[in-house]
Amino acid sequence: MKMKIGFIGMGNMAQALCEGFINTCNIPGTDILAYAPHRDKLESNAKRIGFTPADSPVALAEASDMIFIACKPYQIEQVLGEIGEALSGKALVSVAAGWDYNRFSYLLASLSVSLRAETDSEEDAEEPEALIDTVRVQCIMPNTPAMVGEGVFLVEQENSLTPEEREALLFLLSALGLVHELPSSLMGIGGALTGCSPAFVDLLLEAYGDAAVKYGIPRADAYRLIAQSVLGSAKLALETGEHPGVLKDRVCSPAGTTICGVQALEKNGFRAACMASIDAIMEKKKS
Ligand SMILES: NC(=O)c1ccc[n+]([C@@H]2O[C@H](COP(=O)([O-])OP(=O)(O)OC[C@H]3O[C@@H](n4cnc5c(N)ncnc54)[C@H](OP(=O)(O)O)[C@@H]3O)[C@@H](O)[C@H]2O)c1
Repeated sequence: MKMKIGFIGMGNMAQALCEGFINTCNIPGTDILAYAPHRDKLESNAKRIGFTPADSPVALAEASDMIFIACKPYQIEQVLGEIGEALSGKALVSVAAGWDYNRFSYLLASLSVSLRAETDSEEDAEEPEALIDTVRVQCIMPNTPAMVGEGVFLVEQENSLTPEEREALLFLLSALGLVHELPSSLMGIGGALTGCSPAFVDLLLEAYGDAAVKYGIPRADAYRLIAQSVLGSAKLALETGEHPGVLKDRVCSPAGTTICGVQALEKNGFRAACMASIDAIMEKKKS
């Protein structure tokens, strides 16, 4: 399906997707537009990544078939309100944490009402189509490893894309990583797990890098070695489908060194700390 893609916001997440679309999916940069308020930054990113900068969110919406909304979650209401009718007839794909299909439906319904109210004040004006009826919505939760084709994309089951749009979207995303559909009720915890966990793994890399430096390995070597160990362990888990405990047991020889490290992690609350990190995210989502 040939379509023009628009990005509202071109920060970390949008760049990960956009680079993937251009470099992995071979979408020409002329078919990808992006808008962000800091023009200098947008233009230098456009030069580096290859997308086409748009002059305004309205211009972007008018020229795009599928619009990725990739600004901060708290900005969405204002941004979509400003675009207004130019969204009509478009497919809207949200990557925002905390937004789901229902929340967009409420917002688009309220925008329809305010658009109608504006038009009602003008005599003989035609009633505009309600945005809720004309904008098709899909919420996804990506993560930054999409930049290197190893992302995870949670895709909310409830959506209003056409079958062709959904197929095109899933085709694009699957070129950049694992695509997994979830019911709306599990998108929050799913996003906590996959959207946030790259930062936790980075913390792990940094911590083991520090430990290796303490014992004499140069820092750059330390990061490469631990990053490859994490990558390899993840690949082994995915490709064998073995329980993580079974894989761990294979590394822990009787009376060996690894089991001493495992004990030290347990004593220091490693598993509890991992679970607490997810609790903290879920608490924050509620506020
Ligand atoms: N980062 C992640 O790992 C991750 C993972 C999953 C989901 N997400 C979601 O991705 C979205 C973006 O996060 P991010 O980490 O990429 O944030 P970010 O790096 O701070 O980027 C935010 C972008 O929004 C733009 N922006 C600010 N005000 C705007 C406005 N009024 N209209 C249009 N664009 C505006 C910013 O432009 P300027 O730079 O010009 O100000 C910037 O390009 C969020 O909704 C987040 O929940 C992020």
